[in-house]
This record gives sequence, C-alpha cells and structure tokens, in this order.
Amino acid sequence: MNCELMDLRVNGDERGKLVAVEKGVNCPFEVKRAFYIFGTKDKARRGCHANRKSQFLFIALKGSCRVEFSDGNAEESVLLDSPTKALWLDKMIWKEMFDFSEDAVLLVLSSEKYDAGEYIRSREEFLKAKEAKK
Ligand code: TYD
Repeated sequence: MNCELMDLRVNGDERGKLVAVEKGVNCPFEVKRAFYIFGTKDKARRGCHANRKSQFLFIALKGSCRVEFSDGNAEESVLLDSPTKALWLDKMIWKEMFDFSEDAVLLVLSSEKYDAGEYIRSREEFLKAKEAKK
C-alpha cells in the first residue's frame, strides 16, 4: 500500500524541540492545506472517506488516536501517539480515525486545497472506483 509511518526528524537543542515539515523534509508532497482535529467525542469516528487527489500526513501533536486505512485490498491500523511520528497516506486510500484520547490534537497536512468534490464518502463507491482503475 502507498503509505508510510515515519519517524520525523527532530531539531533539538537546549531550548527544546522543533519539527519542520516541507516537501522533502519529513513530508513527500508540497503542503497546500493544514487542518487539525481536537475536542473529539468519545467513540466518534472521523474521516470515513477516500480522496481522488489529496495525499495526507497525519501527526498527533498531542494525545493519541488510531488510524485505520485500506487501499481496497490490504487493511492497516496505526496508533499515532507522538509528535515525532507521522503517517503518510497516498490518494485513493480509505481512512478512518477513532479512539481519540480526550486531549488529542491531530494535525493533518494535505497536498491539495479543500475540494469537497474529490472526496469519496461511500465505501462502495470507493471500491468501485478502485476496480475501475485495475
Ligand atoms: P469532514 O470532511 O467531515 O472531516 P473529516 O476529515 O474528519 O471527515 O469535514 C468537516 C467539516 O469541515 C465539513 O463541513 C467540511 C469542512 N472542512 C473544510 O472546510 N476544509 C477542510 O480542509 C476540511 C478537511 C473540512
């Protein structure tokens, strides 16, 4: 699957730590959009969609959450619990985020600006789109 759980390069000195993200540094794409998810209710699931164009980089800045994702064949599950870990997901991967800790702040960086039209929000439609590409 086109995905990678990465250990981020951390700049640390006597003052503390800093992580920078740009294309080629801790991230394989040019970042055009950032959003973050917080105050997530217990048992809530976010995501539950695939994107025709957008790649994503997920970083749990605080707390933790789980990300489950699938390319239509394989399925994987990753726990994000450190601001020094990032999960990269390519376009056309179904993803669901859940098990958010109460204090979780999940930063999401994307290769594309927001366009609701490139979201596939039905799993059936996602699998059909995958089949069509084979
Ligand atoms: P939604 O896609 O449901 O979030 P998730 O990725 O967790 O499934 O988005 C929630 C709301 O926020 C929805 O009204 C669309 C809006 N939104 C934007 O305006 N820009 C964005 O970049 C994103 C991700 C969402």
